[in-house]
Amino acid sequence: MLLLFFGTLLLILSQLCLGAAYSEYILAPESRTLIPLEVYGVNGSVEDAASLTKGHRGTTIFRGISSVTYDFKRNIAGLVTVDIQDVSSKDAYLGVTFSESNLWINAQACDATADAGLDSPLWFNVGHGAGNYTAEKKHNRGAFRYLTIVSNTTATISVNQVTVEFTAAPKQDLQAYTGFFHSNDELLNEIWYAGAYTNQLCTIDPAYGDALPLLGTIDSGDNITLPETTPWWSNYTITNGSSALTDGAKRDRLVWPGDMSISLESIVVSTYDLYSLRNSLESLFALQHADGRLPYAGQPFPQTTISFTYHLHSLIGVSYYYKYSGDHAWLSKYWRQFKRAIGWSLSSVDDSGMANVTASADWLRFGMGGHNIEANAILYFALNQGVELASLLGDTTAQANWSTTAQRIKSAANQHLWDDTIGLYRDNETTTSLYPQDGNSWAIKANLTTSTSQRSAISTALRSRWGKYGAPAPEAGKTVSPFIGGFETEAHFIADRAESAFDLIRLQWGFMLKDPRMTQSTFIEGYSTDGSLHYAPYTNDARISHAHGWSTGPTSILTFYAAGIQLTSAAGSTWSIAPQPGDLRIVDAGFSTNLGDFSVSFRRNESGKYTSLTFRTPVGTKGNVRLPGVDGVLTGDRGERVKLVDGVASGLGGGSWSLE
Ligand SMILES: *[C@@H]1O[C@H](CO)[C@@H](O)[C@H](O)[C@H]1NC(C)=O
Ligand SMILES: *[C@@H]1O[C@H](CO)[C@@H](O)[C@H](O)[C@H]1NC(C)=O
Ligand SMILES: *[C@@H]1O[C@H](CO)[C@@H](O)[C@H](O)[C@H]1NC(C)=O
Ligand SMILES: *[C@@H]1O[C@H](CO)[C@@H](O)[C@H](O)[C@H]1NC(C)=O
Ligand SMILES: *[C@@H]1O[C@H](CO)[C@@H](O)[C@H](O)[C@H]1NC(C)=O
Ligand SMILES: *[C@@H]1O[C@H](CO)[C@@H](O)[C@H](O)[C@H]1NC(C)=O
Ligand SMILES: *[C@@H]1O[C@H](CO)[C@@H](O)[C@H](O)[C@H]1NC(C)=O
Ligand SMILES: *[C@@H]1O[C@H](CO)[C@@H](O)[C@H](O)[C@H]1NC(C)=O
Ligand SMILES: *[C@@H]1O[C@H](CO)[C@@H](O)[C@H](O)[C@H]1NC(C)=O
Ligand SMILES: *[C@@H]1O[C@H](CO)[C@@H](O)[C@H](O)[C@H]1NC(C)=O
Ligand SMILES: *[C@@H]1O[C@H](CO)[C@@H](O)[C@H](O)[C@H]1NC(C)=O
Repeated sequence: MLLLFFGTLLLILSQLCLGAAYSEYILAPESRTLIPLEVYGVNGSVEDAASLTKGHRGTTIFRGISSVTYDFKRNIAGLVTVDIQDVSSKDAYLGVTFSESNLWINAQACDATADAGLDSPLWFNVGHGAGNYTAEKKHNRGAFRYLTIVSNTTATISVNQVTVEFTAAPKQDLQAYTGFFHSNDELLNEIWYAGAYTNQLCTIDPAYGDALPLLGTIDSGDNITLPETTPWWSNYTITNGSSALTDGAKRDRLVWPGDMSISLESIVVSTYDLYSLRNSLESLFALQHADGRLPYAGQPFPQTTISFTYHLHSLIGVSYYYKYSGDHAWLSKYWRQFKRAIGWSLSSVDDSGMANVTASADWLRFGMGGHNIEANAILYFALNQGVELASLLGDTTAQANWSTTAQRIKSAANQHLWDDTIGLYRDNETTTSLYPQDGNSWAIKANLTTSTSQRSAISTALRSRWGKYGAPAPEAGKTVSPFIGGFETEAHFIADRAESAFDLIRLQWGFMLKDPRMTQSTFIEGYSTDGSLHYAPYTNDARISHAHGWSTGPTSILTFYAAGIQLTSAAGSTWSIAPQPGDLRIVDAGFSTNLGDFSVSFRRNESGKYTSLTFRTPVGTKGNVRLPGVDGVLTGDRGERVKLVDGVASGLGGGSWSLE
């Protein structure tokens, strides 16, 4: 008992140490009570607007119809309170509007959560007199950087204070990260932490999920003119428990399995909030149909929409959750459901060896039917994850069936869909003109490819299509998808093209972080290849989410590939250290799992030689090191000396090691 206590204490202390490194980059607030940082703009007669900003005292007085927009300097979330000192009339009202982007700042409306129109302001009937007026919990705004306070009558209103109670990541100690990343490239550092923070905003109290009040009731062709706005609220309970991971902070505030195929790993390397991930995954399995099918999205999304790929993403979620938690009991509990779900997927596999997709809902790309390359690559990936889990659980029947099925998919896809002259896979065999970003990125990620030269060809071809704002997804029109871009980035690393991976992160995520229309703190869900903040699948630009977990790929990718820390079995009982530093000269990175801390630190000189390299893994674990082109000896903290052979050393024990 005492030992267990000290063990836990040590684990907590070591986690504190790990996350505390570079904490100055953390964007999550220190306190949950937030005060505006700056005045962004004033309209009408307002006295001393700045007194409501941080570090100021005094009263802001609204005289007649007027408004002030405040800037929190980063995307935040929460419940607004206005502290009223005095009002001149019982007819007085004070409204607040929210916007993530400065494009949608408006004293008469918020940005949008529905397919069309803009969201209504929240109005406080401050005519009642002095006191605090707080928004109802269902009017918790999931993401905004700009808050506009508006007075719509001739009254004079004195305001003492405006605060926002930060509601995101309700069970987290907001700045207690379990992971960190630092390099000599400031942009990459900021991108890593913005990704981590984006996922914190997407983690919510599940009692305040999207109620989808307007789904199906507004025709997206309608033009709603101001000040006609639509009411909004979030009060649908989307999962069990008290915290859940959703797709987007402002919208949809729902559990989406596809999004988790990116966000889950970025959470693992930053906050390790397994509790929220588990609640979300369980909510999807609670909706499994009798035939094994898993939902496109969690409740209350209509269960009539069927998706071959999102179904598979839930299975990938199970595999990832197990990989990073090592929670064997949980895996066993869901194994029957996992197998039934694979059964549903396999019912689409035809004589060609590939799945013929008829359940076409996906990440809003078009043409997801037939022998589609993305769907088959994801199926191949999910089957191989399943094979590993089956072997772990001793389920030899499943293991044999799935590995044979997977091999057939691989050979059929390469026979029918690979186009050697272009160096890319076709979308399906009925077309020669579309070579999708998603299917080609997934083919590399899933190891559907058969050779290094094939992976190089894909990496080169994808790179040749980049535009000024990032990597296009032609399967979704004129779209840059930071979701699929995350898979493409990883694909470049797997193809041993680290420079392309770094270049894409700097180009695309650099744009998303630094452009003045963005929040400079969280990542947008999608935009146009011409750089406009229009996401082709939507008609309403104000609806685009600026904090979407599926856009946070670089956070885990920098940790797994630039620093090169990869877990190869449950919670890191085996691991691999294989940095691909590209042009980086300094990297310090790490994260913790239930087994302990994993970290890597290296320095390289101008010619790319390591001048120092150390790493640490938990005692009792085992792993390999891969440092291509490096000669030398690794020395362990218990005096072990292991020579690198062709840059590789295998079977190292956990502990601290350094390169001599
Ligand atoms: C102030 O009013 C002008 C003109 O109506 C409008 O363009 C601007 O966005 C408003 N600014 C704020 C901060 O409300
Ligand atoms: C509003 O609440 C704050 C914090 O609890 C308190 O300091 C303040 O006095 C309240 N304002 C009024 C007018 O009661
Ligand atoms: C101000 O807004 C409130 C809430 O929408 C509304 O009830 C009131 O009629 C408005 N007052 C004026 C003068 O427009
Ligand atoms: C919306 O506006 C567009 C462009 O002004 C117009 O073509 C369209 O007919 C309008 N739609 C409706 C439903 O009024
Ligand atoms: C959610 O809020 C709406 C709008 O106020 C209300 O009609 C509905 O009953 C609420 N639902 C729950 C579960 O509280
Ligand atoms: C919540 O937990 C109950 C009891 O374990 C379970 O039956 C139900 O399916 C769960 N619901 C969700 C949405 O996870
Ligand atoms: C095959 O791919 C093309 C391009 O994406 C698409 O237009 C077509 O609908 C796809 N076929 C099926 C059966 O989905
Ligand atoms: C896929 O299945 C559908 C529905 O059964 C069928 O119409 C279509 O021809 C099949 N596509 C291929 C490429 O076999
Ligand atoms: C795998 O199992 C399914 C369903 O039981 C069966 O239809 C299929 O033929 C099996 N495939 C292989 C390769 O054994
Ligand atoms: C990828 O597939 C090839 C066979 O095409 C295999 O030799 C290789 O081991 C696989 N790589 C991984 C990482 O599984
Ligand atoms: C980098 O270090 C290597 C090995 O010590 C050395 O040969 C090389 O000259 C160094 N390069 C620079 C630019 O210092």
